[in-house]
Amino acid sequence: MEVKIRWMKNKDLDEVLRIEKENFKFPWKRSYFDYDLRRPNTYCLVAEVDNKVVGYLVAWEIAEELHLANISVDKNYQKKGIGTKLMNEIITIARLRDIKRIYLETRVSNIIAQNFYQKLGFKYSYLRKGYYSDGEDAWVMEKEL
Ligand SMILES: CC(C)(COP(=O)(O)OP(=O)(O)OC[C@H]1O[C@@H](n2cnc3c(N)ncnc32)[C@H](O)[C@@H]1OP(=O)(O)O)[C@@H](O)C(=O)NCCC(=O)NCCS
Repeated sequence: MEVKIRWMKNKDLDEVLRIEKENFKFPWKRSYFDYDLRRPNTYCLVAEVDNKVVGYLVAWEIAEELHLANISVDKNYQKKGIGTKLMNEIITIARLRDIKRIYLETRVSNIIAQNFYQKLGFKYSYLRKGYYSDGEDAWVMEKEL
């Protein structure tokens, strides 16, 4: 299976939103992606298989840090290394830009994501109490580059 990573475009948003709604109880709205596609210092990537979008990632550069805002892979394509490919691409971009650290929030209940980030070298940093709109806590995880 050949996986291509490229920049996200507006025309990808139907597919991105389909995956977003499948994967999250509180999905991002189209306007969030629209905004991030236009915003400076923001990186929006998609993973493609046979010209079909099967995953995506959004990250914000803030000073010398990169905040991973969103990552998700189509359920039918999970556990095939696509999330890792997206992360490796953003890590390469971050290193080229001399970014020192990547951090993210993840639901305390999202053990799969925590395993995924740990495998990529992220460490647990601290707990953000009530970070999510439904009151769930977030683990902040980070990786030094
Ligand atoms: C988290 C997510 C992006 C991972 O993407 P993926 O393409 O499935 O991940 P990969 O195939 O690259 O997996 C890399 C490693 O992560 C861990 N991992 C991934 N999926 C896992 C699962 N279902 N159970 C346990 N560990 C898992 C494993 O360590 C895996 O390595 P291995 O395949 O050698 O065991 C994907 O599960 C997803 O889209 N989840 C729903 C959305 C989400 O929760 N996003 C993160 C919000 S913070």
